[in-house]
Amino acid sequence: MKQENLSQLIEQMTLEEKVDQLLQLSADFYTKAAEEQTGPISELGLTDENIQNAGSILGLAGAKEAIQVQKEYLEKNRLGIPTLMMADIVHGFQTIFPIPLALGSSWDLEAAEKMAEISAKEAAVSGVHVTFSPMVDLVRDPRWGRVMESTGEDPYLNSRFAEAFVKGYQGTDLKNDFFRVAACVKHFAAYGAALAGRDYNTVDMSERTLRESYLPSYQAALEAGAKLVMTSFNTVDGIPATGNKKLFRDILRKEFGFDGVVISDWGAVKELIPHGVAEDEKAAAKLAIEAGVDIEMMTTCYSHFLAELIKENSIDERLLDEAVLRILELKNELGLFEHPHRGASEEKEAVILSEEHRKQACEIAKKSIVLLKNEAILPLKKEEKIAIIGPAAASQDVLGAWSWQGKMADAISLVTGAKKQGDNLLYGSESFDYFHPSDSAVDEAILLAQQADKVVLALGETEWMSGEAASRSDITLPSAQIELFKKIKTVNDQIVVTIYSGRPLDLRGIDDAKAIIEAWFPGTEAGNALAAILWGEYNPSGRLSMSFPESVGQVPIYYNCDSTGRPLETTNDEKYVSKYLDVSNYAKYPFGFGLSYSDFHYGALELDKDTLTPDDFLTVSVTVTNHSDISGTETVQLYVRDLVGEVIRPVKELKGFKQINLKAGESKTVRFTIEEAMLRYVHRDFRRQSDPGSFEVMVGPNSRDLQKAVFKLMN
Ligand code: BGC
Repeated sequence: MKQENLSQLIEQMTLEEKVDQLLQLSADFYTKAAEEQTGPISELGLTDENIQNAGSILGLAGAKEAIQVQKEYLEKNRLGIPTLMMADIVHGFQTIFPIPLALGSSWDLEAAEKMAEISAKEAAVSGVHVTFSPMVDLVRDPRWGRVMESTGEDPYLNSRFAEAFVKGYQGTDLKNDFFRVAACVKHFAAYGAALAGRDYNTVDMSERTLRESYLPSYQAALEAGAKLVMTSFNTVDGIPATGNKKLFRDILRKEFGFDGVVISDWGAVKELIPHGVAEDEKAAAKLAIEAGVDIEMMTTCYSHFLAELIKENSIDERLLDEAVLRILELKNELGLFEHPHRGASEEKEAVILSEEHRKQACEIAKKSIVLLKNEAILPLKKEEKIAIIGPAAASQDVLGAWSWQGKMADAISLVTGAKKQGDNLLYGSESFDYFHPSDSAVDEAILLAQQADKVVLALGETEWMSGEAASRSDITLPSAQIELFKKIKTVNDQIVVTIYSGRPLDLRGIDDAKAIIEAWFPGTEAGNALAAILWGEYNPSGRLSMSFPESVGQVPIYYNCDSTGRPLETTNDEKYVSKYLDVSNYAKYPFGFGLSYSDFHYGALELDKDTLTPDDFLTVSVTVTNHSDISGTETVQLYVRDLVGEVIRPVKELKGFKQINLKAGESKTVRFTIEEAMLRYVHRDFRRQSDPGSFEVMVGPNSRDLQKAVFKLMN
């Protein structure tokens, strides 16, 4: 449909029809029989017309159902405007990929794009038009359960992943490519900084930090073309995001030039009342529409009060018309006016969970698993007798939160995966609880450990321990698992611990294992991917995208922290410096860290010159050699520190990375270019610019083990 036709369509709409476009309801309203619609649904006080004409639906999938719902919708819609179907496809539809935090740990942007492309395909054939992904909130506090949805603690890495996700979901021709879906970037803004890691809690940060660290990844997603933005539940500078005019009208729309759809998070418009900025639903509706929220998800402040607010001239009808236009434009950009069923096709649903998709999910899972420790125990050898024990050994709870359509029954457990690798396996027959294992299960595990050369002890969190509303104050492994580790160690100390988790953990209690593998939640192919790493079929290449604390007391802990006036520089004996009395300042496993079965050596860091001018660039190079007899992948990381700034600067910031494959004995020279634009930061007046002066450039395998050199930026 042509743009002018959309405007004409709006002219034909009644005030009520326009307001209905702004309402998003869950699938239950359309798929459940009327008599089942009791409780919250009937309490919303919506008329049949409101429900019939609501502009979008959340959480409906399945081609047959989607086609049926759209058909019935269009039969009754006076102007023939199709509905929009949105859903949370966060790390896969039915073929589940590693959680986003794990994808971040792959440092492999092509892998992320591939996962988004496959997710889009499976979702699109099932009738979904929009995914509520990517979630690009910067995260620094592993107590927050939603860190699993983010790609981590670094603005640069998050931005690159944000772009990769959007590209993979949307492709290059959304209107005609019905295997793609529109991307909704979330949660704008700074949801990842909930105080004390408690979900839905207040966020309080300076505007400079917001702009410097938190906003770049949303902006990167928008520059990659994301069609929608979701508000966040938290406050930003004392004002809940969903009613925050500065955030949406000034920053998102004016500064970033975003002209797509803004949708509230679930119930967030009405939550302006308990937040204490709106007296009632009417005031909440006014705040949200004025802030620039186009769609209200699952509450009815707009439905009940927008028309009234307009009639009494409390708000300008143009605000409503603009919102409706953006929603219709999105429908049009998805080709829905011409093809209301879009990609939905029962026949094409055959692609779901196909061999090819599972294969890709396995490859990507391998890339996202991180080897944290290895005291010459891994890889396992086929002929060794290996006991695979612990609560996660035979568990199919490997998908992670936000895997709505994923089925545990389709997932590969570690034991199942291991059977394809090892020839001599011992595993239990008892089911093993994560928190309260039975005595007989523990006894059996001990017996198996006694008989084995080596033990793979599979531990971790269950799916419900991370994700939304799953904050934890103690991020160690459940105590029963630590007890189990201790017992096993008394009979066999050749222990490899594998961990499934949705967050970095405090690993005290099991950190003297001979090897530790962080597998995150790897998705449907979990066991195959993890076993491939254990037996060395795949050489681990994952690198942490979020720091692992030594203890929860250090949290929030992140590598790119600001410099202080009393930095801890030498020994821990100094008293009056910024430090703890009882724990170091450092992460147990820092950002960027991960081991390989290969042995990579870095040659000297070289700069082609030591001064840089704004119209030139400088080349940093380092030669990396694989000193082992096995080929592997290394992620060479580039960091910069601005030694003197107008405002304080982080002690290091990631500015680039390159993944290289090195065969046994092979060397490669990696080159990075540094230019003035990379050295800009948010100044006192919020402008992004650089300052002439000295900078440290650092290159290495992770954010801790770096070689340094200095260069100067000239005017
Ligand atoms: C979450 C969003 C999600 C929405 C719809 C909310 O509770 O915060 O991330 O997209 O629900 O399911």
